[in-house]
This record gives sequence, structure tokens and C-alpha cells, in this order.
Amino acid sequence: MKVAVLTISDKGSRGEREDESGKILKEMIEKNDAEVVFYEIIPDEKRLIAKELRCLVDNEEIDLILTTGGTGLAPRDVTPEATLSVIDKEVPGLAEAMRAESLKKTPNAMLSRAVSGIKGKTLIINLPGSPKAVKECFEVVFPAIPHGIEILKGEGGECASK
Ligand code: MTE
Repeated sequence: MKVAVLTISDKGSRGEREDESGKILKEMIEKNDAEVVFYEIIPDEKRLIAKELRCLVDNEEIDLILTTGGTGLAPRDVTPEATLSVIDKEVPGLAEAMRAESLKKTPNAMLSRAVSGIKGKTLIINLPGSPKAVKECFEVVFPAIPHGIEILKGEGGECASK
């Protein structure tokens, strides 16, 4: 599985904050036998985020795009809106599962507006921005991703046994 990691952070994009979440995410992806083929930090600008997502989707090599950051209530948090402007269909169960599981750890889980969906043959998932949240949410969604991507690519076998 080939994965793109997109950190969305004004401060990170200006080099004013180390991207710890992006680093953790890359480590977890590699630990799960997937490959990080693209990584970038971009500011919280809807137009830029959507442009980058479209560009990554056009790269046929990429199966999965994981974004981190910009899902909350701050005025500049626009990652979900940018994602919704790009995807063809939502896959709401992934974002729902992240919120449901995270809620067992913190009530602040309710504050993430993360969305998940597909564009063409690429799965896009928003993760929250903090290093702790990224780790917790990745662990929730990752088990379902390989099978989801198989189906998306038309390579899936029978679902019943999985
Ligand atoms: N999810 C998990 N698993 N763990 C967390 O600590 N923090 C929350 C939430 N989701 C959190 C979490 C907080 S504090 C916020 S504000 C929202 O995600 C949005 O985060 P973001 O704006 O960094 O994307």
C-alpha cells in the first residue's frame, strides 16, 4: 500500500513548529508494512489543501492519503471542507469510528470534524492534529484500510470472511 501524508498546519508550513504528528504517522505507516511515498506540510488554506489532494489523487501510485490537522473548531480549520470539495463519496464509518473510540479517551474527540471518503481509486482520511490524537486515530482506522483499498481497486475478494 502506498500512502501520502499531508500535514496541515500554518506554523508547521512556516517552519515555526516541528511536525511531530507527521513524523509519528510516517513511523506507524511503515511499521504496518505500508510505504510513505509522499509527505508535505501545507498551510490551513482550503484552496491549497484541495489542490494538493487532487494532485495526489491524480498520481495513480497513491492508494491512501492521510491528512493530519485542521479538523477542529479554530477559524482556520478547513481540512474537512477542502476534503469534501474533492471526494466523490464519503466513507463515514472511518471518521465515525475514530470519534467513537476516541470518545472513550477524551470528550474532546467530539470536537474533531474529520471526514473520510474516496476520490477515484484513492481513499482520503482526515486525522486530528495532535501527536496523541494521530496515534490513537490511526490505530482505530488502520485495520479496515487494506481491505477497503482492495475493494476500491476492484481487487477485493469475498467480504464475508474478512
Ligand atoms: N482524538 C483522539 N483520539 N485523541 C485526542 O486527544 N483531541 C481532540 C480531537 N480528537 C483528540 C482527538 C481535540 S482536542 C480536537 S480540538 C480535535 O480532535 C480537532 O483537532 P485538530 O484541530 O488538531 O484537527
